[in-house]
Amino acid sequence: MARLPVAVLASGRGSNLQALIEAARDPAYPAEIVRVLSDRSDAAALERADRAGIAHRVLPHPDRASFAGAADAALREAGAELVILAGFMRILDTGFVEAWQDRLINIHPSLLPAFRGLHPQRQALAAGVRFSGCTVHFVRPELDSGPIIAQAVVPVHPDDDEARLAARILAEEHRVYPMSVRLYAEGRLRVVDGRVVIAGASAPDVALLNPAEGLVSTGV
Ligand code: GRF
Repeated sequence: MARLPVAVLASGRGSNLQALIEAARDPAYPAEIVRVLSDRSDAAALERADRAGIAHRVLPHPDRASFAGAADAALREAGAELVILAGFMRILDTGFVEAWQDRLINIHPSLLPAFRGLHPQRQALAAGVRFSGCTVHFVRPELDSGPIIAQAVVPVHPDDDEARLAARILAEEHRVYPMSVRLYAEGRLRVVDGRVVIAGASAPDVALLNPAEGLVSTGV
């Protein structure tokens, strides 16, 4: 079976990259990571790529357009057919995003379209939402927007701080990103009128309540 060649762009810790590396260790996984690219030479993601034997490069970034040009050339040279943003902290040039439209996906640690941009977990806590989570989506030029592929939900606990909520969401990110890449690689995702249709997926039967009914006293 030919596996889909994917490239990962990462700026930091690289735990989502690691989750994808682990998933792709299974020969039955339909995608393989052929290149890791970073804008930062100190990104831990590069060490993770190194340990996994994946070719990696740091790209120059004097300005947005030249970074985009270098990234585009590196991706084509690597033969990447899908580009995965995993903690990539730069805003990408519009021309780049359009050139890779529907072959470029991102993960964001909120239930989009809520809490775009920086510190989404902090934004969620400040808003007092009962649930948050993460979203995998096709990238469009507007920041943290684009057709949604998958989301995972976590409860927000009353005593959460940013780090605790981020850790709970991150555990879901590590499940939902490899799953989304699998769906893409299996050719099951189609964008129709700005929304993603997944072939062969049935509606999930989920009902969530926070605070849980049993925890709420009924009388005064
Ligand atoms: C993740 O929370 C991801 O959703 C966000 O940046 C963080 C990257 O973490 N875009 P890591 O580098 O994958 O560990």
